Amino acid sequence: MKFSKKTGLWIVVACSLSLAAPAASLAARRIPPNPETAKQNGGDYWRGKKIYGEICFSCHGVKGDGKGPIWRTVMPRPQVFISPYMKRMTDDYMFSVVKFGKMNVLKNRTKGHNVINGVPTAMPSFGEALEDAQIRKLVKWVRSFGKSEQPKDAQSRKIFADACSQCHGKKGLGDGTRPVEDQDPEKPFISHIQPPPMNYHLKEQMARFDDGFLFWNIKLGRIEVTELKKYDFMKSYGHLLNDKDIWSVVRYVREAFINGKPRKKK
Ligand code: HEC
Ligand code: HEC
Repeated sequence: MKFSKKTGLWIVVACSLSLAAPAASLAARRIPPNPETAKQNGGDYWRGKKIYGEICFSCHGVKGDGKGPIWRTVMPRPQVFISPYMKRMTDDYMFSVVKFGKMNVLKNRTKGHNVINGVPTAMPSFGEALEDAQIRKLVKWVRSFGKSEQPKDAQSRKIFADACSQCHGKKGLGDGTRPVEDQDPEKPFISHIQPPPMNYHLKEQMARFDDGFLFWNIKLGRIEVTELKKYDFMKSYGHLLNDKDIWSVVRYVREAFINGKPRKKK
């Protein structure tokens, strides 16, 4: 199927979207971005700090910079907690990632725990709608966000505007209309879609993917390419930590790294 068959593209996009994030239910069930969730769920900062120092630091680093002692052996690189990207994740999502592991969250294998409306949302696939050459050009287009000049490529511009920008945003900031129907302009952007669509301007995030990965990511979608490339992702810790422990470590990560306000002493 070619892009010129515009309807074809739209059918695929519409199917992926209706599976991934039905617009009506997103609008109806408002989930406010709520940094207080960990507090409400009994998360304790100091308990979280202790657990972080035992388990999480080895990958994510003492400073939350994603460079703990074993970060190089893990692919993709451990999430950088001090990156602005993290502001867009809800506590609920982070809880689920720690409890079930990210791959299971992406596949919505979360044993009844609701992750943002219980809707599994990841990058949809476009292999049916776009030709390989178009996808290769799109990869270049995506990489050019954040650079001063974008290539003169009318086709990619159009495909991006039609098929990608509702999630990734017109400028590739990950702030498209789809995830942010009820965004409070005062608050930092938080996506209903978890994980949030990639912000192409974040160099440290984008540098982790080679063009091949990006190509297959667009062609097959997130989960399939991750499995294909045998990426590990975040493992689950639900067997080691009880829910209170997990909320505690989420609270610690939120306060100390994401908000950048570590507490001085107990
Ligand atoms: C073996 C290495 C490793 C350990 C140990 C580890 N993580 Fe992770 N973590 C990762 C990787 C890899 C990712 C995924 C990065 C990505 O998606 O780009 C990740 C992602 C995350 C995320 C963000 C989810 C997302 O979508 O990126 C959170 C929150 C998180 N980890 C919390 C923790 C906490 C809390 C602990 C300790 C209980 C922990 N991690 C221990 C490797 C690790
Ligand atoms: C339904 C929303 C949605 C649409 C539409 C969408 N994406 Fe994505 N995209 C995502 C999400 C969510 C992620 C982040 C996945 C993650 O972190 O696990 C992502 C990630 C990416 C990445 C970065 C690689 C990665 O694994 O994070 C690229 C490249 C990308 N998308 C390109 C595109 C292109 C090109 C289009 C249009 C042809 C498109 N996307 C359409 C939601 C979407």
